[in-house]
Parts: sequence; C-alpha cells; structure tokens
Amino acid sequence: MTASSLFLASLLSLAAASPAFQNFVLQESLNSAPSGFSTSGPAADSTTLNLRIALASSNFAGLEQALYDVSTPSSANYGKHLSKAEVNAFLAPTSDAVSAVQAWLTSYGLTATSASSAGDWLSVTVPVSTANEMLAAKYETFVHTSTGKSYARTLSLVPPRRGVSTYTFNSSPATTFNNPLASGPVLSSPKPASNVSTDASSSCASKVTPACLQSLYGIPTTPATQTSNTIAVAGFIDQYANAADLKTFLKSFRTDMSSATTFTLQTLDGGSNPQSGSEAGDEANLDIQYTVGLATGVPVYFVSVGDQYQDGDLGGFLDIVNFLSDEDDVPNVMTTSYGENETDLSKSLAFKLCEAYAAFGARGTSILFASGDGGVEGGQDQSCKTYQAAFPAGCPYLTAVGSVTGVSPETASSFSSGGFSNYWGTADYQSDAVAAFLTAQGTTNKGLFNASGRGYPDVSAQGENVQIVVDGQTGGVDGTSCSSPIFASVIGLINDQLIAAGNSPLGFLNPWLYANPDMLNDVTSGSNPGCGAKGFTARSGWDPVTGLGTPNYPAMLAAAGL
Ligand SMILES: *[C@@H]1O[C@H](CO)[C@@H](O)[C@H](O)[C@H]1NC(C)=O
Ligand SMILES: *[C@@H]1O[C@H](CO)[C@@H](O)[C@H](O)[C@H]1NC(C)=O
Ligand SMILES: *[C@@H]1O[C@H](CO)[C@@H](O)[C@H](O)[C@H]1NC(C)=O
Repeated sequence: MTASSLFLASLLSLAAASPAFQNFVLQESLNSAPSGFSTSGPAADSTTLNLRIALASSNFAGLEQALYDVSTPSSANYGKHLSKAEVNAFLAPTSDAVSAVQAWLTSYGLTATSASSAGDWLSVTVPVSTANEMLAAKYETFVHTSTGKSYARTLSLVPPRRGVSTYTFNSSPATTFNNPLASGPVLSSPKPASNVSTDASSSCASKVTPACLQSLYGIPTTPATQTSNTIAVAGFIDQYANAADLKTFLKSFRTDMSSATTFTLQTLDGGSNPQSGSEAGDEANLDIQYTVGLATGVPVYFVSVGDQYQDGDLGGFLDIVNFLSDEDDVPNVMTTSYGENETDLSKSLAFKLCEAYAAFGARGTSILFASGDGGVEGGQDQSCKTYQAAFPAGCPYLTAVGSVTGVSPETASSFSSGGFSNYWGTADYQSDAVAAFLTAQGTTNKGLFNASGRGYPDVSAQGENVQIVVDGQTGGVDGTSCSSPIFASVIGLINDQLIAAGNSPLGFLNPWLYANPDMLNDVTSGSNPGCGAKGFTARSGWDPVTGLGTPNYPAMLAAAGL
C-alpha cells in the first residue's frame, strides 16, 4: 500500500536550542480519528509513505504585502504582477532551515527532492518504520468506513527540534484526515442530447444554458482574440473531461461557435484523461463545458491531477498550485470545483496551502473556488452545534463563488456554502462589507459562527439545473461547482479585452471586487439554513451566501477601465 498526501504544519517557531535530533516538541495531535474513519491497527513497518515536508517561507509577510500591492486598484503597482523569481524569493525557506532539515534527513539516510520551485516543499519516500522514528509518530492504518479505502495516518507526531535558527516544519501524511469523498454534481433526468430543447431565447428561469447566462449577465458572444490568455480547469479524483461530449454540448448550446473548439490537457502526479464515454465525469464535463462553451474563444486547459501523491484531493490541491506556479506563463484564471471541510485539515497545513494561493495570485492568476454545496452544515447532520467552514473557500487569497437560482430576482441557493472561517480572520479588503452584514444580522446565528473570521463567498453565479452533456446525455446539475466555472469565464473574457488593450489581466480579484460592489448584481433574497437554525440570509450588500452578487459584465468591464 502506498499512502501519501500533505503534511500538516503548525507554524511553530523553534528557538535555537539543543543540536540533538531527538529533542521533540509535540506538534499536532488528535485524540481519535475523525468520524467516518476507524483504525485497523498499526501500519505495517514496510508500508511506504510519500512524505511532504514544508519549510516556513523566509518572508511570507512580504509576499502578502506584494500580493495586495499588485491587486488593489488604488495602488500605484496595481497590475504589476510578480515574476516567478520574485515570488520564489519571498517563498524560499532560509538557508539555515534548509540545511537543518537536510542534515536531519541525512541522519536517516534520506535524500529529499524539491516539491515546489521555491524549495519550500520537499518530498521524501520512507517506510512507516522510519517515519515513526523520525517523527516520533505511531502510524496506524485507518479505514474510511463508507468507501473501505485505507490510509496510513498518525494521531500525533512531533517535529524535530534542531540547533539552528528558527524554522518551521511541516510534513504529510500525518494527522490530517481529509475526506476521500468529494461531492460532485450528479446529472438529473438525463436525456439524449439530440432531443433537448436549446431555445437560445430561453431565460435562466427554468434551466441554465450558455445562452441564458450570456443574456442574464451581459456576457459577450464574440470570440476572444488573445491566445496568451488562458483558463486552467482543475480536475481531481479520476474525473475526466470528455472531448466528444464537449462537441455535442457546443452543437446543442453554442450553435454560433465551431463545434471543433476544444481544450488542451496538462497532467501531473500520474494524471490522465481517458476518453471513453463511460469514463466522462459529471464534474469535469461541467467545468469544461462552462469554460470552453462560455468564455468564447479563450484557450482553456484541463489539468488532470492523478492519485500518485494524494489520498484524497488534499495533496492534489498543493501539487496543482505548485505545478502551475512553476510555469513561466501562468494561466490568467484557475477554476476549481472541489473542496473540503475546514476542520478536515490541520490549521498549519491549511495555512501553508493558502500561502501557495497567495503566491499564485501574485503572479497574476485569478483563483476561483466553488464555495461548497453543504450550506452552513458542510455535511454535518442537522444536530450540529456550530456551522462548518469550507476549505479552500475560507482562504483569503482566492475568490470563493456561491450559488444562486432564478431570475428577477436571482435568489440564494439553499445549499450554497457560506459563512466565516475559523482559521483566517476577516480580510482587510472585506472588513467594511463584513461589518455591515454583521450589524444588519444582529443576534441571528449568534454562537453558531465565528464573527471574526474571513467571510465567504465573495461572489456568486447561477448554480441550479445547469445543462450539461455527459456520455451523450443531456441533463441538469446543481451546485456551486457550476458557479465557479461560470464566474471564471466572465473573468477570462474581461482579461481578453484587458490584454487586447495592452493592460494586465485582473489577477487576484478580491480587492477589486470589494472596491466595486456595484459592478455585481446584488442578491437580496434566499438563505442557507442548517444545524436546525436559520443560516445566513442574503441581504443588500455583501452576505455570506451570495457574496457581493452575480456578474454584470458591462459594469465589470467598465470598472476594469474599459
Ligand atoms: C423526445 O422528446 C419527445 C417529447 O418531448 C418525446 O416524446 C420523445 O420520446 C423523446 N425522444 C427521445 C429519443 O427521448
Ligand atoms: C464534511 O464533514 C462531514 C461530517 O462532519 C462529512 O459528512 C462531509 O462529507 C464532509 N465534507 C467534505 C467535503 O469532506
Ligand atoms: C475565530 O476566528 C479567528 C480568526 O479570526 C481564530 O483565530 C479563532 O481561533 C477562531 N475561533 C474559534 C473558536 O475557532
């Protein structure tokens, strides 16, 4: 059995101390495995672990400042995105940290390879026996009850204390039990694609198609012109994007486009994209059909992340962002319709991953994530005592997209995940918007959420009965999984016009979004009830169900200066 994934990391500063490798301090521990997992005893000594070790970046605060500097419209450096070398200079660990960790690994006869271009992530393969010794851990085999999949994890570990200047140590897999299930949309009432009404004049009131979105949001149908302007679509957990289904989709729903328009493929971690119809994934097809089929003429690539270094999708989240950040020409937009519960990740691991999004955003990529489909419950049962936050949606360096349905008015989807992170505080760019919401909400939901957290989603888009083609059948799907690619397409088309006019792409969106709330259609009805409580209610201004609202393309283009 090969186990793998990320490692956690408490951002632990170790004071200069003893040079002895065996001095440990407890880093992270759990009392028991999270619900849904049970132990089947100690992991066999020979079980292989692909450990990821993260080192603290030498200057993350500098990177964060640079990110806001290039992403805030009022800044003199707005749009002056950083090069790979500039980002890596902030992200790279100190040379003391590198030599300390190398010496520690060498003492176990190990040599790590770099897992990120800045060198802040290392990869090393070790047997469980060695991992137990070097991390003072007790790896056990945990079985995920509902899927039967098993994983090697430890309930506690202690990182090595080293006689060097301070550094931070993170490794994986360890105490993070990411859920190996990812909920994707499921096609309902599938019909042969040839028998589907594709009346272009129909509104989004009954079902959602590219034509109704173009009409509802003012999205242009004219093809983009800039070949350098790309959208990356993230694919995980053996979800494959099918080219024949895309062709059928374009023939049905974009009769004005060449049905030969397609996407290109990139793979990592052993990823692939087999094309038999039966292997077409609802999620992957949705994401590709609502980028290629909506961001008319914008080059789209599907990034299929394999299972080689991941148990669920956690390692995949890290690897795809490190992989794309390593490119000299990063995509201008990345959309991801997968996520986890915030509590499924150790705080330290979540922070380190979130830093990778800050780095990617500083390069000029707009990072969009579906906010999640579990409303405020996040998959807990109704007896829950507090609302669950979602990850990566709660990371402040990306744009989380919630769902709405209906037209005039658009209304929040009850499943739209939204709320407040317990890991990250309210971001500066949203502090006024969040404060206004909290004041308006009064005592409703008191005690159920963390009022000092980063509020999400940031924006929203249609997400119910969205028509897609899978294995030749057409049907509707629901979910914030729909909303993220739709919003990504809007940004991709604005970027095309910006680049054509000689400007930079939009990059990290949030400071621009919160500075221009009127460029979005404010959604003021609907809510996401859960845990036997009201959930959050959409209201005038930002709210944690629909964010600032849905796209108004002409207004957004004007706010972008065109
Ligand atoms: C197509 O739709 C019509 C009515 O909407 C129905 O009578 C017919 O059986 C459908 N054909 C197929 C192949 O599904
Ligand atoms: C979130 O946690 C709940 C249990 O609390 C679980 O049922 C659900 O599947 C988890 N969601 C994800 C996306 O992992
Ligand atoms: C609430 O959120 C803040 C981040 O702003 C965090 O530091 C704090 O630990 C959170 N509280 C709880 C109870 O999780």
